[in-house]
Amino acid sequence: MPKLYIETYGCQMNVNDTEVVFAILGAHGYQRTENIEEADVIMANTCSIRDNAEQRIHGRIAWFDTFRKKRPGVVVGILGCMAERLKDALLESGKVDLVAGPDAYRSLPDLLEAVSEGHPQMNVELSREETYGDISPVRTDKNGVSAFISIMRGCNNVCSYCVVPYTRGAERSRDPRTIVKEACDCVAAGYKEVTLLGQNVDSYRYGETGFAQLLAMVAGISPKLRVRFSTSHPKDISDEVIDTMAAWPNICHQIHLPVQSGNDRILEKMRRRYTREWYLERVARIRAAMPDCGISTDAIVGFCSETEDEFRDTLSIFEEVGYDSAFMFAYSERPGTLAARNYPDDVPQDVKVRRLNELIELQNRLSLESNRRDLGHEFEVLVEGPSKRDAGELCGRTGQGKMCVWPDAVHRPGDYVRVRVLDCTSATLRCELV
Ligand code: SAH
Ligand code: SF4
Ligand code: F3S
Repeated sequence: MPKLYIETYGCQMNVNDTEVVFAILGAHGYQRTENIEEADVIMANTCSIRDNAEQRIHGRIAWFDTFRKKRPGVVVGILGCMAERLKDALLESGKVDLVAGPDAYRSLPDLLEAVSEGHPQMNVELSREETYGDISPVRTDKNGVSAFISIMRGCNNVCSYCVVPYTRGAERSRDPRTIVKEACDCVAAGYKEVTLLGQNVDSYRYGETGFAQLLAMVAGISPKLRVRFSTSHPKDISDEVIDTMAAWPNICHQIHLPVQSGNDRILEKMRRRYTREWYLERVARIRAAMPDCGISTDAIVGFCSETEDEFRDTLSIFEEVGYDSAFMFAYSERPGTLAARNYPDDVPQDVKVRRLNELIELQNRLSLESNRRDLGHEFEVLVEGPSKRDAGELCGRTGQGKMCVWPDAVHRPGDYVRVRVLDCTSATLRCELV
């Protein structure tokens, strides 16, 4: 049987797509390996979100080529968003045998067969319907506790800086019956937590079923199954979704609500279609329904023409919300996007870096303050596995998404335990069993 090795980059949706690819190719006799040395087919499932994500892949392609040279017949394939964006330019390097975009994975067995006959192959067709809804992903997580389930694909938002609508195509929602079935399969396989994935989960709609109904359907499968989701869009997150979260004890009180900027002129230029005031009202509504809700965010600094004062508005909205955690990025111009076509990338690199460091420093303080508020409190935590630092300790997350570690020689991954917080850093809660 040919052995298949895949490296995955980018977002959680790519992690899940890799699991779909293992399922499709597994049905055609390809066996998964985690050892690149023994692989017959080497693939990278790639990300285009920022230039540095793509540069990393070019480095990997050069590394993969050494295996192609050492062992003639080894096939190198590029999947995912970078395959979709760069298309045949990837084949022209002579280092890649196969290019397949995010909607083309069902054709991989045929493409690989044609490659084995000596012809490089490419399929970057985007689809309006493909959701891989009928495919049961081959789970690649290490602990068997927490699984990703894609509920939709693509994005219709066209934020001006963002490449995703071009690499993933139009938004489409997956049949809720296939989502519920997949979640039931996860429960049957021993999983205790599912994360529902989409670029904008709040615009999920399949016939009569909106995102709030879908959440309730999945939460209703088992009270022991934790339900999380990502990503919410501030313009679309509805009261109904917030109230559904509050009503179901097994829907985790955690919302990832990317703000991107705290300044209205920049938000408008980013085409986010909400204002600072609107965003803060959504946060207030979330906290009114769930005072303990964990809130995290994404932000971009140094977007086209961003002034120092406008950047200060991002600092101040971070302070005002008091995020539990955040992903922060320097703006990276993506070819073909609205921003690349219309606005010069005119904030100097050293200014971007300085703003980014300032924001990261602020968030480190906010994360620490948020964790300090938990000192002495008790939480129910789902055990994920041994802690990275100390084999005598276990780790797992609170409903709010905070990582806990505690000494424990008794419990196993997948158990629910109660812990009390004794100490913290900005990243971790140090706890004891209650
Ligand atoms: N669908 C999600 C985000 C997906 S991309 C949403 O709408 O929020 C993840 C994050 O990458 C974004 O939230 C944004 O902060 C960042 N990002 C996207 N494009 C970027 C770019 N061109 N430069 C820098 N960061 C970017
Ligand atoms: Fe990109 Fe905006 Fe869609 Fe998120 S909502 S994927 S940032 S276009
Ligand atoms: Fe990257 Fe594509 Fe995800 S660009 S962030 S892998 S949707």
